[in-house]
Amino acid sequence: MDRIRIVGGNELNGRIPISGAKNAALPLMIASLLTDDTLTLENVPHLADVEQLIRILGNHGVDYSVNGRRERQHEGYSRTINFTARHIVDTTAPYELVSKMRASFWVIGPLLARMGEAKVSLPGGCAIGTRPVDLLLEVLQSLGAEIDIESGYVIAKAKHRRLAGNRHRFGKVTVGGTHVGLMAASLARGETVLENAAREPEIVDLAACLNAMGARISGAGTDTITIDGVDSLSGARHRVIPDRIETGTYAMAVAMTGGDVVLEGGRIELLERAFDILTEAGADISETPEGVRVRRNGNGIRAVDVTTEPFPGFPTDLQAQFMGLMTMASGQSRITETIFENRFMHVQELARLGARISLSGQTAIVDGVQRLKGAPVMATDLRASVSLVIAGLAAEGETTVGRVYHLDRGFERLEEKLTGCGAIVERISG
Ligand code: EPZ
Repeated sequence: MDRIRIVGGNELNGRIPISGAKNAALPLMIASLLTDDTLTLENVPHLADVEQLIRILGNHGVDYSVNGRRERQHEGYSRTINFTARHIVDTTAPYELVSKMRASFWVIGPLLARMGEAKVSLPGGCAIGTRPVDLLLEVLQSLGAEIDIESGYVIAKAKHRRLAGNRHRFGKVTVGGTHVGLMAASLARGETVLENAAREPEIVDLAACLNAMGARISGAGTDTITIDGVDSLSGARHRVIPDRIETGTYAMAVAMTGGDVVLEGGRIELLERAFDILTEAGADISETPEGVRVRRNGNGIRAVDVTTEPFPGFPTDLQAQFMGLMTMASGQSRITETIFENRFMHVQELARLGARISLSGQTAIVDGVQRLKGAPVMATDLRASVSLVIAGLAAEGETTVGRVYHLDRGFERLEEKLTGCGAIVERISG
């Protein structure tokens, strides 16, 4: 199994190109199920999760081509991919596929909307928490779906084979629930109003793409989204937004090591709260024509308290990275996780590098230390693993991060991007 070896101590200086957003690309790819025409997505990151979703969509009959040529997929750069679901050949998403990636459960929305039926395996729990799908099923029921659960599968059927628009209020803000609601309501008969909707930029991106396909959606980015259902959707060409979590991750890495890096293509408005917090901690963040510039020279990092919240609050997907940064801050930081109940698995691994962290319920109390010391550590999930990389970049000596496949799910060319800015990072195979 591959490992990442890091020799800490170098500043980061230079440029890091920001990839297309994984969490925007996945629902956009799933939206290709809504039309028999071709959906062309530009700036799709080359990640293990994207490859896995290509396989899952293929099972339903979605054909794809990369820049017109399949073989270019191995280049490892964000790519343009055409997705065509001319015929849906199977409305079942089996356990073997859905259990590998939770977001694939979202195919239930477009399959049900286009075909009037879907049978999708329940995804099961995952490392960061139980992550149920009740809110996703509730929005589909509001749109007239009949739902049965049998042998680990959700069997959903639309009355008279077509969903019907309705007013639906989410009991809790859910990104996946909002994506599913948007896709399902786009082809429903009549108007749907989604209240207490998620406001994440990835929701806005999906709505923009669906509108380009002929949907009639307004209000995306606010907590009330109105969808006027249409009979069919067409193909479109759409560019995936830059990855705000990747942007924030590298910004924290620079804050940790010191240096001066331009995050090319990064957008400051996608990360306002996180950047406010980083600025408070002592980083200097500014907008440039190329993207976002992050600097830290001279002074150290100050401890700042953080609570994760739905957008526009501080993202749960940056919580682990921020904790990595706080391990060497001056003072004590309290980091409270409100979105997922089990997203502190990086705590024990950071402790192996010398971090002082104690847990009290959903709050981690981090007492900054003067120095971290490299050690072998283990990745437990995607964002947790990159927090270990951030800590390793500042630790004295050598850190090796095991189970690198977690990183490959969400960070395109991580070693290359960091090495290009002066870090010593390499992948060790086997
Ligand atoms: C999305 O997951 C992201 N995944 C996650 O990123 C991200 O952490 C999360 O949103 C929150 O921002 C993708 O976009 C592919 P939710 P999602 O539904 O949609 C509870 C990463 O590292 N809930 O907004 O699954 C749920 O348990 C990943 O890239 C229910 O109770 O998250 C959680 O506590 C990890 N019932 C809260 O709502 C439901 O039916 C928010 O979850 C659905 C969710």
